[in-house]
Amino acid sequence: MTPDADAFFADPYAFYASWREAGGAYRVTLPGGLAGWVVTGHAEARAALADPRLRKDGANQRYLRRLGAEMPAPGGGLSAHMLNSDPPDHTRLRKLVQKGFTARRVQQLRPRVEEIATALLDEMDGRDEADLVESYALPLPMTVICELLGVPLADRAHFESRSRKMLAGEGSREEFFAALKESADYLKGLVAAKRAEPAGDLLSALVQARDDGDALSEQEVIAMVFLLMVAGHETTVNLIAGGVQALLRHPDQLAALRADPALLPGAIEEFLRYESPVNIATLRYTGEPVTIGGTEIPEGEFVHVALPGANRDPAVFAEPDRLDITRADAAAHLAFGHGVHHCLGAPLARLEAEVAFTLLLARFPGLREAEPGTEPAWQPNVRFRGLTALPVRLR
Ligand code: HEM
Repeated sequence: MTPDADAFFADPYAFYASWREAGGAYRVTLPGGLAGWVVTGHAEARAALADPRLRKDGANQRYLRRLGAEMPAPGGGLSAHMLNSDPPDHTRLRKLVQKGFTARRVQQLRPRVEEIATALLDEMDGRDEADLVESYALPLPMTVICELLGVPLADRAHFESRSRKMLAGEGSREEFFAALKESADYLKGLVAAKRAEPAGDLLSALVQARDDGDALSEQEVIAMVFLLMVAGHETTVNLIAGGVQALLRHPDQLAALRADPALLPGAIEEFLRYESPVNIATLRYTGEPVTIGGTEIPEGEFVHVALPGANRDPAVFAEPDRLDITRADAAAHLAFGHGVHHCLGAPLARLEAEVAFTLLLARFPGLREAEPGTEPAWQPNVRFRGLTALPVRLR
């Protein structure tokens, strides 16, 4: 079956609940044409994410072939990254950047993240209304990841518009491929610039690792930067905007958080559970027949792990559709995935969210929705659960 796209994006949870009840893995074609077996139970999703029989290597190319398209060169080079690899390639690629994203290293970024958030709030201050996505939730993680990598400030807009075309379901397949090619060309130029003039950033370190040994190929450097840029902002924006919207629509929860800021870390886990920023996890296919929740899936089939489904499984979370920032077990969510591909940037995302919520709530005591009661503007995109806009009144 294919669900109606508008109904699906407005409330994927209703679909996931019915598919969960129908069994461990449910055969469906998702809006946008993604066909395969959707896994929506928490236990099944957790097991599937860690199952080495579910492969990632070449999954994107397989998918495009099934649609009757080929990934054009050089755009195809962008997919040679860890999230599209299986061990041992995955292990080698992840190890190269793992050190830069440990909880300790990330905590050192806190003062700079606070400065960036403060500057964005200063720009909003004095206005009565703002789109929180455009003014705050998107530029904060975008600026942080660009600085970490060493992507020049002036190039952010270039990357942002292409990233939207590639990920947000905006535009045709031709535009998608054109955006891929432009990003690949752009990143190639950037790598050359860092080689000519190294700086103290992550991209310079990767270029150096490439030149000092054969730890990774040129194409892998480019794909790595692409992955970090995209994963570094397209998800955190949804956590910040989705979390703020959830709070504004639950005034009792907002009041509780304002009264006791020590609730914030738990609240962030609850936002991750309640509105998972990633919807369907990245592509996986069966390398051999695999049984999930009693359903046998033949070899060569796509398995789509629905993270929002897992995060609202009543077998794990009591009253899963209720937002409760004091929920003791919220952190059992799978919003950051599980297994070898568990989100590399989770400590950074949590830090950015902590800073974002703390400073936003302190700055605007009267923050509220500008258009209460209207339908939220969810992106029509099966990969992410993200708001396209969040109009708010600041005072
Ligand atoms: C992987 C979610 C922020 C970098 C993942 C996966 C999920 C996820 C679900 C696994 C996907 C799969 O297995 O199919 C999130 C969420 C975020 C977030 C919800 C924010 C709220 C970030 C940030 C970075 C990042 C800030 C910055 C560097 C990565 C990378 C991977 C990854 C590199 C691939 C890891 C691997 O393949 O070993 N993320 N992410 N993420 N994430 Fe995040």
